[in-house]
Amino acid sequence: MCVSKAGRLVVLVSGSGTNLQALLDASADPSYGARVVAVGADRDGIEGLVKASKAGIPTFVEKLGNYPTRADWDAAIAAKIAEYDPSLVVSAGFMKILGAPTLEAFPVLNTHPALLPSFPGAHGVRDALAHGVKVTGCTVMLADAGVDTGPIVAQETVPVLPDDDEAVLHERIKTVERRLLVEIVGRMVREGWTVSGRIVRIGNQTGGEST
Ligand code: GRF
Repeated sequence: MCVSKAGRLVVLVSGSGTNLQALLDASADPSYGARVVAVGADRDGIEGLVKASKAGIPTFVEKLGNYPTRADWDAAIAAKIAEYDPSLVVSAGFMKILGAPTLEAFPVLNTHPALLPSFPGAHGVRDALAHGVKVTGCTVMLADAGVDTGPIVAQETVPVLPDDDEAVLHERIKTVERRLLVEIVGRMVREGWTVSGRIVRIGNQTGGEST
């Protein structure tokens, strides 16, 4: 199937890439309407890059430490993403904050393993567990310049069970997170979306309009 520019995804990863794999699996069905055209990372030797290569998807790595300044890295990763002409960038476990060059050029969707605005940052699962919450979940949001502060697109809840540790709870969340991310990416590329202040609406749009 010929996928239009509207369905071109660049996925950014830093780890195991199970969210990436869920997107790859979903895009095998032509009716999904999107496909992963490239996978980028901020580090070598991660399972996410292996998953991309196994699927025959081009990969790139931009390490922050290889650039003299953060601004240079911001410009470099934006330029690399632009080579693949995506309609949507998906930050799927990418452990870097993207700078203005990327955020101003592309819509960026991010996923987080907690119910924002509670427990943002790199340790959302650990922080929720330590706080003693009985319900947590996952959030799919549009990225902005902050740490997990962008407009929320979708959330789902996940129970915290008495014997949970961070790893067990994170795996329970990720099962829900993968399904939600796949659903939301598909709906956004097929139906379009609008953003009005912090309110994101999917559907009946031509795609990616901000008001
Ligand atoms: C996800 O839970 C994501 O929200 C978090 O890190 C995890 C990445 O998992 N930031 P994977 O690499 O997609 O398996």
